[in-house]
Amino acid sequence: MNVIDAQTLNSECHDRALPWRVEVVDEITSTNDALRELAQKGSASDLVLFAESQTAGRGRRDHRWVTPRGLDLMFSLLMRPTVPVPLWPRYTTLAALAVCLAIEKQLPLKPHIKWPNDLYLNELKISGLLAEVVSTAHGTAFVLGIGLNVNTLDFPPDLSATSLLKELKTPLLRELDRQSLAVAILEQLHGQFQRIELGYHEAVGEVRSRSWLLGKQIRATVDGNELFGRAVDLNAEGHLLVALRDGSVASITSAEGVRQVL
Ligand code: BTN
Repeated sequence: MNVIDAQTLNSECHDRALPWRVEVVDEITSTNDALRELAQKGSASDLVLFAESQTAGRGRRDHRWVTPRGLDLMFSLLMRPTVPVPLWPRYTTLAALAVCLAIEKQLPLKPHIKWPNDLYLNELKISGLLAEVVSTAHGTAFVLGIGLNVNTLDFPPDLSATSLLKELKTPLLRELDRQSLAVAILEQLHGQFQRIELGYHEAVGEVRSRSWLLGKQIRATVDGNELFGRAVDLNAEGHLLVALRDGSVASITSAEGVRQVL
């Protein structure tokens, strides 16, 4: 098992002029929950918390996020953005792009972004993002959790999931170095977050070119209603455009779930 070390990550961030203050814990309930609490207590922006294991890791829609100890990356960012709250969903889109770019830079792999918050490799999920807005006495905060399957090789058969190590075509005898991947991701996150206002529409173009859903027939659950159609595009804001069976086009800003239908 290779380690994630806070001191090394902080010095790598310092060397790259990244704003992140990194903490690493061995075990925690959920890094998102921990940062929500710290946000309530007034912690400053740009705190990143990594955990080697989570006892109550959460995904979207009350799903659990379960990962074996020490094999993958599980972390959350606490931010107190100065841009208006309606722009905050853009951080999630930019974060998905940042994780893709970091993987592409480090490995011979090309992940796809499954709108809105998942990353896929070869039709299987490798990463999920969980974004939460937290109201606190110290102002509204944004907590963004990222789970990335790096070195896990065994997944339950009912889970359509894979890991970076598993998808490498030339098998490695050793595990992937999570620390250098973490640095690459933190660097990309900072870089992509600079595009939150100017440059966002161009970033959406890069998301579009990595999109997993476009062209596919899908079923989306939006506010409890099912919607069937073909995912045709992302608009300039990154919302999904779906050509419905009645000939109209729906623009979806968020969805409880999106599945390909064959
Ligand atoms: C999803 O796919 O539904 C989102 C999964 C998000 C998992 C990460 S792991 C780190 C952070 N802490 C959590 O409890 N969840 C996120």
